[in-house]
Amino acid sequence: MSVRSIRPLSGLKGEINIPGDKSISHRSIMLGAIAQGTTEITHFLKGADCLSTIRCFRDMGVEIEEKPDCILVHGKGLHGLSRPARTLDVGNSGTTTRLLSGILAGQNFSTALSGDESLNSRPMARIMTPLNSMGADITSLEHNNCAPLLINPGALHGIHYQSPVASAQVKSAVLLAGLYADGATSVTEPALSRNHTELMLQNFGACVTSTMHKGGSATAQIEPCSELYGQQVIVPGDISSAAYFIAAGLLVPHSELLVKNVGTNFTRAGFLSVCEAMGASLTMLNRSFEGGEGRADILVSSSSLKGTVIEGGIIPTLIDEIPIIAVMAACAEGTTIIRDAAELKVKETDRIRTVTENLRAMGACVTPTEDGMIIEGNAGDPLAGAHIKSCLDHRIAMSFAVAGLAAAGETVIEDSQCVDVSYPEFFASLESLN
Ligand code: S3P
Repeated sequence: MSVRSIRPLSGLKGEINIPGDKSISHRSIMLGAIAQGTTEITHFLKGADCLSTIRCFRDMGVEIEEKPDCILVHGKGLHGLSRPARTLDVGNSGTTTRLLSGILAGQNFSTALSGDESLNSRPMARIMTPLNSMGADITSLEHNNCAPLLINPGALHGIHYQSPVASAQVKSAVLLAGLYADGATSVTEPALSRNHTELMLQNFGACVTSTMHKGGSATAQIEPCSELYGQQVIVPGDISSAAYFIAAGLLVPHSELLVKNVGTNFTRAGFLSVCEAMGASLTMLNRSFEGGEGRADILVSSSSLKGTVIEGGIIPTLIDEIPIIAVMAACAEGTTIIRDAAELKVKETDRIRTVTENLRAMGACVTPTEDGMIIEGNAGDPLAGAHIKSCLDHRIAMSFAVAGLAAAGETVIEDSQCVDVSYPEFFASLESLN
């Protein structure tokens, strides 16, 4: 087991270059693989999850070159993947599993895919239901609605799917299968989830439309497609990774940090709105726009935070940032209430449980609820250093490393290597700010 010791710090200064967005990196490999021609990806995230996506496509005959400054994907076209010789290994990656299932539903060969223990316990009925209703035949080999999955393709029909959850992975799986369907395919979700798939599919030549409805629900629709065309993709920095450094700059006294190249797509930027509601001092600089995705540098100064309420349609736009928001809330003045976030229970760990247990270990007052948590802030009375059980969840390890910077005494992060899933350089970057 790898462990990291974190000591409290004062005055973080410097600049951080944020590694590439995980969601966009996955999608650039997937669309590149099924496009015609070459896709050149710069600022690709070489985290374990995205490497799982690369491995799966190489196993299906796609040539993917890792150059020093870019990744080249030599696309095979929509119907050019070949049957893999073995079960596809999706590692810890829910995005690989669910999006790939949508693509595999449209091939002319059957595929098995399986991941690690955490991945193989995450719910897959959410993609099996719509993909099977399109005409695929996806079965859970252990009959528990989880991976390992056997994906038998079928002649796919366009459907309208009313998703019970706001999930970009579900929406994307259905849209990707929709490329291969005999008519238009649409997905309505109760609130708008990240829209990277829609944006990138448009850039690659697919016909995709997005509509927001009164009350906050949203529909994405795709027309069947005869070809996608390889593109140049410049991946913005991942706001989910930036969130740890923004929080560190806010919580550690006398800090001033420039967090560079942060993706600011509005379907991902709920964390910034919450920071603002909590009284954070953030200044957006050098805004730019590329491939439909906004980006900016963010100047962060130490701030006294106050509690807030986080609920409703903003939740899908910050779902992965809730562990670090909970840490900020524990250091704020007043109460923070998080509701409508039951999806936390089906992430790499049950994050309502893993956040509550670890915050309590640091002396915070937290009440878990069915769909979130209530956190009593302890402003003025720092958290206590503690032994943190990451439970192999990268976002728990990084959130509590930041908590440790603002706590009294030593904090030890157990199984700290799990940060490799989304941010292999995380601890090195943290140390560089010293
Ligand atoms: C992701 C969507 C989200 C997010 C995950 C990445 C994606 O999951 O939590 O880390 O890339 O589509 P859900 O779609 O399950 O909400």
